[in-house]
Amino acid sequence: MSEEPTVAGGAIAALEVQPAWERRHVLDLDDFTRPEIEIVMETTDAMKEVLGREVPRVPALRGKTIVTLFYEASTRTRASFELAAKALGADVINVAASDSSVQKGESLYDTVRTLQAVGAQILVIRHGSSGAPYLVARRVEMNVVNGGDGWHAHPTQGLLDLYTMRSHLGDLRGKRVVIIGDIAHSRVARSNLWGLATLGAEIVVCAPPTLLPYGMRPDGSPPEEPLALPPVIVETDLDRALEGADVVMALRLQLERMASGLLPSLREYARLYQVNEERLARARPGALVMHPGPMNEGVEISSAVARSLQSAIEEQVTNGVAVRMAVLYLLARGKP
Ligand code: CP
Repeated sequence: MSEEPTVAGGAIAALEVQPAWERRHVLDLDDFTRPEIEIVMETTDAMKEVLGREVPRVPALRGKTIVTLFYEASTRTRASFELAAKALGADVINVAASDSSVQKGESLYDTVRTLQAVGAQILVIRHGSSGAPYLVARRVEMNVVNGGDGWHAHPTQGLLDLYTMRSHLGDLRGKRVVIIGDIAHSRVARSNLWGLATLGAEIVVCAPPTLLPYGMRPDGSPPEEPLALPPVIVETDLDRALEGADVVMALRLQLERMASGLLPSLREYARLYQVNEERLARARPGALVMHPGPMNEGVEISSAVARSLQSAIEEQVTNGVAVRMAVLYLLARGKP
């Protein structure tokens, strides 16, 4: 008897009645509507049901080929896309630029054309340059998923963060979500800001003035020119920011993207901006602690908080598989 079911039953079968997804690519959350986010969340519920089965696999994407092309390091995103593709019965090829013909001078365009020519239908790409996945999406027939581009966007991280928050807090309207740390260089923060704004959360960003996005004023006054970000409350004092928080999200200092001179020292940064037990006590009792990873424990977050009962950090990683299954599934059965 075959271990793998020949038809996708249960919750997946219920998804067949959903209207086809109009979206060809997932590049950021800035143009996602609330109904689109709801569809991803509902589809993720179905994928979680699949992942909870004795054999966590369905043939929904059998015959499809998915390529992950990563120009930057990754543990969570790459592993979870691979697991997601396999759980849906797709073939998956992982290409690291550091171990590919990119090292012989092959261009981004030639690399993605090559992957398309070998038969890939969906491309998951991570690149150090903001906008690279957009350039690719304009020039290939494949569906493109942005697995993180420079400082710009990380939409599937944003979706898994929304899913994790909603699974604990329900409707996010009016919930106070505090994002702390290196907002300036964080693609995770940007995608979260768009998703949270669309779902009606109260968003607070808290950082030293040097780590706020260009144009965002530390005193919270309106910027001179409109920012390409949704409106947020800006705080530079962590204790004030945390008052009444429902969600506390710490970010890693993206030292690899940072010019020198933005921080006096890591020790000083940790003194003022580390989420530790004492500071967390200012948030609502039981406030959800999140971090997209990778963490630098002892810098932006204390080990005690990262491993506390309030921490949803490992749950975020686990949810990443189901959310990425949902995204791959929706793209594969949407419009070509
Ligand atoms: N959050 C995240 O993107 O982690 P990785 O860099 O490990 O993929």
